[in-house]
Amino acid sequence: MTQHHFPESFLWGSATAAYQIEGAAAEDGRGPSIWDTYSHTPGRTLNGDTGDVAADHYHRWQQDLDHIAELGLGAYRFSVSWPRVQPGGSGRFNQAGIDFYSRLVDGLLERGVRPVATMYHWDLPQELEEADGWASRDTALRFQEYAAGIVGALGDRVHTWTTLNEPWCSAYLGYASGVHAPGRTEPAAALAAVHHLNLAHGLAGRVVRELAPAAELSVTLNLHVIRPASDSEADRDAVRRIDALANRAFLGPMLDGEYPADLLADTASVTDWSFVREGDEKLIAVPLDVLGVNYYSSTLVRAWDGVSARSDADGHGASTSTPWVAAERVDFLPQPGPYTAMGWNIDPPALTELLLRLHREYPSQPMMITENGAAFDDVVSDDGRIHDDRRIDYLRGHIGAMADARAQGADVRGYFVWSLLDNFEWGYGYDRRFGIIRVDYDTQVRTWKDSAYWYQRLAATGELDQAQE
Ligand code: FCB
Repeated sequence: MTQHHFPESFLWGSATAAYQIEGAAAEDGRGPSIWDTYSHTPGRTLNGDTGDVAADHYHRWQQDLDHIAELGLGAYRFSVSWPRVQPGGSGRFNQAGIDFYSRLVDGLLERGVRPVATMYHWDLPQELEEADGWASRDTALRFQEYAAGIVGALGDRVHTWTTLNEPWCSAYLGYASGVHAPGRTEPAAALAAVHHLNLAHGLAGRVVRELAPAAELSVTLNLHVIRPASDSEADRDAVRRIDALANRAFLGPMLDGEYPADLLADTASVTDWSFVREGDEKLIAVPLDVLGVNYYSSTLVRAWDGVSARSDADGHGASTSTPWVAAERVDFLPQPGPYTAMGWNIDPPALTELLLRLHREYPSQPMMITENGAAFDDVVSDDGRIHDDRRIDYLRGHIGAMADARAQGADVRGYFVWSLLDNFEWGYGYDRRFGIIRVDYDTQVRTWKDSAYWYQRLAATGELDQAQE
């Protein structure tokens, strides 16, 4: 087994998102977002859970920052809630909302922790959804205005600005399968959303360049590692098709300045892509200081033979509508375990594969893992501790896989564990716990799980320990 040592310059961090932890949904002038509407709609989330209170981070942020400092982390990735700083999504900004993030950023800097701010982690102001949401080009223009407001206020006190978190989920889960807010099932709207999210990224990226030239610019993508069930031409073509929808629909315009031709051809029966205007693709390709990669599990596909039972084990939630637009002839196969509590397969080598692919295709592009982690059914032991060995194993395996990719040349500069705290896991509500710190939702007491102590030691020493036999 390889012994892994990380240099002192390697950045260890943890990640969260506004709607998942803040609560205070109607406080200090915050407006409603699509996730408020969605989670309050009966039947949409497990147990009808909402983010109204969540981990109450809005009131407990100082204590939470103390945990980050105590963990010895160099960076914290959080998101800014658009409807908290600009309720309604256009026009007036809410000073109380801006002040919250301004204090948060200062609190991080005082503790020697680098602020990494995501502008959009899925909480679109509801008013913008009523005007067609991400299916409308105007939403990208509103996003540019919002970006100018927050970058103007927080500027280069924020070390790294990340425009979007996982636009794949925003577009396809929000507008095609409907398992995320706003819960629409309109394939053509989902592809329009892909483009308008890409455009929003390009516009906001240029705002960062102009208003905070010393800050780093990034975007976070949930790239899929897709494998064929066999070496047949049909199965390999299924991989190509899903890779276009999942990965190259974003990497293409963002890093190469154009949409892949096969994506446009594959989806021609759904849309003619006329929402892409002259100049858009070049605008989207704003150079990135660092590409954020989120990785949890891998994907196995085959070409559907037209007769056997369908399998839609893609890990993206149950819906009668598919997130995979114009891919009716692709099957997503169940994978060998072990699995996390999300039902996602655990596959660390796929992370090495992904990072090496990116390194091969974009050799000069620095990267960071902006999310990786696992939900398990944690148990509080009699001694009051949470012995989450499976989470430690998961993290160890994936951090080792990242180290393998680094050893083969991939320029990966940091790793952010998802998540600092247990939180509102979208459609799964509070049922799935990803935190390295447990949150007791009755008392809001925070308790370090064993994984938090383990991660603290890793961040302090840079030495990745080996699994105990
Ligand atoms: C990612 C999201 C994050 C969290 C993890 C488990 O897709 O970015 O908010 O829900 O999955």
